[in-house]
Amino acid sequence: MAKDVSVPAFVGPFGDRPPIALTIAGSDSGGGAGIQADLKTFTVLGCFGTSVLTAITAQNTLGVQAAEALEPSLVLQQMRSVMSDIGADAAKTGMLANAAVVEAVAQGVRELGIRPLVIDPVMMAKGGEPLLAPEARTALVEELLPLATVITPNIPEAEALTGLRIGSLDEMREAVRRLHGLGPAWVVVKGGHRTGPEAVDVVFDGTRFHELRAPRIDSDRTHGTGCTFSSAITAYLAHGLPVLDALRRAKTFVTRAIETAPRIGGGHGPTNHLWPMGTTRLPGSAVEAKRGPAGA
Ligand SMILES: Nc1ncnc2c1ncn2[C@@H]1O[C@H](COP(=O)(O)OP(=O)(O)OP(=O)(O)O)[C@@H](O)[C@H]1O
Ligand SMILES: [Mg+2]
Repeated sequence: MAKDVSVPAFVGPFGDRPPIALTIAGSDSGGGAGIQADLKTFTVLGCFGTSVLTAITAQNTLGVQAAEALEPSLVLQQMRSVMSDIGADAAKTGMLANAAVVEAVAQGVRELGIRPLVIDPVMMAKGGEPLLAPEARTALVEELLPLATVITPNIPEAEALTGLRIGSLDEMREAVRRLHGLGPAWVVVKGGHRTGPEAVDVVFDGTRFHELRAPRIDSDRTHGTGCTFSSAITAYLAHGLPVLDALRRAKTFVTRAIETAPRIGGGHGPTNHLWPMGTTRLPGSAVEAKRGPAGA
């Protein structure tokens, strides 16, 4: 008699199909930013994560040692492969490397009707290494930003996109207003690069300004904060939350991820994408033997 090899269907909190979140971004071999940060964040927030790679970086907490963009045709084919079979409830873009990749991604977004779409207009790594060729900015502004549900530039990116010098909150408000004129439905200018007791992000929806505020944490473990924030927004949008709710929850998520960041590497360490899971120590593991039981 044939053996019954059928297994029970997976039934999680969302039935047999979790929300699906897609990241279109570069690989960070160090695991703290890029698609690795995005997929960890999607997973811990209850989404099934898919990924379209745009570039591969040789990177760690000390910096980016090498980077190579993928062929635009391969980027577009990954988008078609994912969307034609699996689909996406929300998507984000991160590192896009060069103008040809930006154009391929914009073509894919239009052709495949990908939305809601979060665009994190990544231009530089924390250490200053370029992650987008300067000549790609025109394609980013003309082709991609008009397709966005939300864009999340940091202050240097907002300055590059608007030509403004941004120091004060008022200048951040002026920047979000101008960036909104480029076509995205929502704009968030992140305040991570400012100083002061709070990390304030300024939001504009075309009508109203909003602020996302959290205590500024004094830490050098901030590698990938931008990826963590934009992927959390994407995950919450994939769950169907309204944009402002998704932004507020993502702010809480990234703040907690910075607060509980682990000690990994000798430079700017990663955030703790997995904080909702708590700490798992396997009884009898080498870590347990070295450090003593959890809580000791
Ligand atoms: N030290 C900090 N304490 C609290 N929140 C922070 C801190 N640094 C950044 N944030 C928050 O993290 C989020 C990401 O902002 P940030 O300006 O760091 O992005 P980014 O520069 O794009 O990051 P990345 O270098 O990873 O691309 C924002 O919500 C910001 O306010
Ligand atoms: Mg960033």
